[in-house]
Amino acid sequence: MAIPLILAVFTAPIIAMAANYTSLVTFIFGDSLTEVGNNNYLRYSLARSDFPFYGIDYPNRIPTGRFSNGRTIADIISEKLGIPSPPPYLSLNRQDDALLKGVNYASGGAGILNDTGIYFIERISFDDQIGCFENTTRVIKKRLGEESAVSLLHEAIYFIAMGKSLLRSPLYVFGLSIGSNDYINNFLQPFLPYSRRYTHDEFLGILELKLAEQLTRLYLLGARKVIFLGLGPLGCIPSQRAKSTTNQCLQQVNEWVVQFNSKVQKLINVLNVKLKKAQLTFADTYQDGMDLVENPGKYGFKVSNTSCCKVETAVGGLCLSYAHVCDNRSEYVFWDAFHPSDAANVVLADRFFTKLFATSNSSSNSSSSHEG
Ligand SMILES: *[C@@H]1O[C@H](CO)[C@@H](O)[C@H](O)[C@H]1NC(C)=O
Ligand SMILES: *[C@@H]1O[C@H](CO)[C@@H](O)[C@H](O)[C@H]1NC(C)=O
Ligand SMILES: *[C@@H]1O[C@H](CO)[C@@H](O)[C@H](O)[C@H]1NC(C)=O
Ligand SMILES: *[C@@H]1O[C@H](CO)[C@@H](O)[C@H](O)[C@H]1NC(C)=O
Ligand SMILES: *[C@@H]1O[C@H](CO)[C@@H](O)[C@H](O)[C@H]1NC(C)=O
Ligand SMILES: *[C@@H]1O[C@H](CO)[C@@H](O)[C@H](O)[C@H]1NC(C)=O
Ligand SMILES: *[C@@H]1O[C@H](CO)[C@@H](O)[C@H](O)[C@H]1NC(C)=O
Repeated sequence: MAIPLILAVFTAPIIAMAANYTSLVTFIFGDSLTEVGNNNYLRYSLARSDFPFYGIDYPNRIPTGRFSNGRTIADIISEKLGIPSPPPYLSLNRQDDALLKGVNYASGGAGILNDTGIYFIERISFDDQIGCFENTTRVIKKRLGEESAVSLLHEAIYFIAMGKSLLRSPLYVFGLSIGSNDYINNFLQPFLPYSRRYTHDEFLGILELKLAEQLTRLYLLGARKVIFLGLGPLGCIPSQRAKSTTNQCLQQVNEWVVQFNSKVQKLINVLNVKLKKAQLTFADTYQDGMDLVENPGKYGFKVSNTSCCKVETAVGGLCLSYAHVCDNRSEYVFWDAFHPSDAANVVLADRFFTKLFATSNSSSNSSSSHEG
C-alpha cells in the first residue's frame, strides 16, 4: 500500500469555506470546561454545578450545570459564530429534532481514561460520550432513510442536519476539550493507582494510545472536522497553587501539560495522514492561558492567583452556597478552584477564535505540509 509522501496537515483551515456560519453544526465533547448540564441528569454524580453560586451571571441567574459564573468557552464560541450553544445530550429524547442541529456531550469530571474522576461516582467518560454520539448518528441515519434523502456516505450522514439548501457548504465541527481531569482527578492524586504505578512518560503513553483509539472511533462514526482544544496551564489553577507553600504555579504540572499538548499535536498529525479524510486540528491555548495568568492587567483583570470564590484548597473547591463571592467577578481570571470566570472565558474564546478562524481565511493555500 502506498504511503503518501506529502503529509497534508490541517492546522487551521477547518472553517475556511464558511460563507455563512449559521450553517454550522457543532458536536461538543469534553469535561467541565465545556459541559452545559449533562451531569444534572446523573442522579448520583458529585461533579455538578446546578446550584448557586454557579450561573450567577448567566441569564436569569440560573445555575444550569455550567461550571462557571456565566458562560463556558463553548457557549462564547457558539455566540461568536452566531449559532445557539448546543443543548446537553441527556436533555434530549431520541426523537428530538435538536439532535440534528448539534449536541453537547461534555460532562464534568470526565477524562480520556474511563476511571478518571472515579470519585465523582457518575460522569460520562469520553468513551461513553462517543457512545452517545454513536447513538446520535443512528438517529440521524434513520431520518435520512425515512426521507430517502442522500446516500449513506460518511459526510452525508450529516447533510440532513442542515437542510437541502445548505448542501453546498456543509460544515461540521467537533470540539474536544478533554484531558484536564486525567491530570487533576487522576494522575495528580497520590491515592489513585496511576500515579503510584506509572511514571509521567508511561502515563502519557497510556493517554496517547487511548486517545488515538477514541479519535479513530469518532472518525469511523463520520466525524471529519475535529478541533482538539489543548490543555491550559493546569499548574496555575488555584487548586494546584494551593499545594505550593508560596501559592506559586506548579512548574512540574505545567511541564507535563506541555508534554501532553505536544504529544496530542503529534498524534493528530499522524491521524490526519492515516485517516484519509480526517481534518483534525489541534488548538493550542496554553500560551494564551499563561499570558492571562501572568499578565492579568493586560486583559482588564486584577487577580489571577486566587479564585473569585476563594474556595481553593489542595483538594479542590467549588463555589458552593457558603462561599463568599468576590465583589467584581470580572476582575478575576478564576471563578472557583478549577474553572475560569465568564470574563476569562471571553478572552480565551477570543484568542481561540482569532487563531483558528482568521488563519482559516488563507485556506486556499493552507493544506500544505507543515511537518514531516
Ligand atoms: C445564512 O443562512 C441562514 C440559513 O439558511 C439564512 O437564514 C441567512 O439569511 C444567511 N445569512 C447570510 C448573511 O447569508
Ligand atoms: C471503559 O468503559 C467503556 C464503556 O463504559 C467500556 O466499554 C470499556 O470496556 C471500558 N474500558 C476499560 C479499559 O475499562
Ligand atoms: C445507546 O442506545 C442504546 C439503545 O437505546 C442504549 O442501550 C445505550 O445505553 C446507549 N448508549 C449510550 C452511551 O448512551
Ligand atoms: C496575589 O498577588 C498579589 C500581588 O499581585 C499579592 O499581593 C497577593 O498576596 C497574592 N495572593 C495570593 C493568595 O497569593
Ligand atoms: C469590574 O471590573 C471590570 C474589569 O476590571 C471593570 O471594567 C468594571 O468597571 C468593574 N465594575 C465595577 C462595578 O466596579
Ligand atoms: C475572511 O475573508 C473575507 C474576505 O475575503 C472577510 O470578509 C471575512 O471577514 C474574513 N473572515 C475572518 C474570520 O477573518
Ligand atoms: C497564499 O500564500 C501566499 C504566500 O505564502 C500569500 O502571500 C497569500 O496571501 C496566500 N493566499 C491567501 C488567499 O491567503
